Amino acid sequence: MQNVRYVKVGSKEEAASVVLDRVRKELDDGLNVLGLATGSTMIPIYKSWSDSDLDFSGVTSFNLDEYAGLGKDNPNSYAWFMNHHLFSHKPFKETYIPDGTAEDLTAECEEYEALLRDAEIDLQFLGVGENGHIAFNEPGTPFSSTTHVTQLTDSTLGVNSQYFEDESAIPKTALTMGIASILSAKKILLLAFGEKKRFALEQLVKGERTTEFPITALLDHPDVTIITDLDGITG
Ligand code: GLP
Repeated sequence: MQNVRYVKVGSKEEAASVVLDRVRKELDDGLNVLGLATGSTMIPIYKSWSDSDLDFSGVTSFNLDEYAGLGKDNPNSYAWFMNHHLFSHKPFKETYIPDGTAEDLTAECEEYEALLRDAEIDLQFLGVGENGHIAFNEPGTPFSSTTHVTQLTDSTLGVNSQYFEDESAIPKTALTMGIASILSAKKILLLAFGEKKRFALEQLVKGERTTEFPITALLDHPDVTIITDLDGITG
């Protein structure tokens, strides 16, 4: 696939260094709006940015998703994650994350989508779920979806339960940018480390678009880079 470029790295550290160089170049080229992701995959990336001389003070960021009901003081919220791993170390011009504590979640999603449309993301970071989800767009989500409220699947709840002390505290509902919202970014960079992500990446490599595997929506985007430590994922 011409539009999807695969970069094989030897380790997460090497990935962080490749990403740092890429972000430095994008900043030099005038990047204004960055789409950010959460999840363990992003932790070494944000650490390397935090330890670097990169200047994000002119950059506006938009995060992909948030759990419903969790506020920024809850260590399981993505707002807390972003503050802890990046924003408390690097000042940004403005940062946006869907508000999981909004009274009207649907209205919050509509407002978020309107902000996104005005801002136009220059570079969107993505991780991928073991079931091929991107952000919290679970299998079956239409590729035309915009920011919306979603119900998490058992697969995602199972994987994410490791972060919650009490399993019953995991929100089953989340707010997420839709697939069309993500595809409207000018460039996309997806990171996937470890064998647990092989199945999801293989769906992309197959080159067939299917809502069963949301990651395959990236085949419709003109500029995608996949950075992975997995052997044999070459597209
Ligand atoms: C969550 C997030 C996704 C992320 C995924 C992978 O489901 N909503 O945006 O890509 O986790 O997480 P990890 O990087 O921990 O494997």
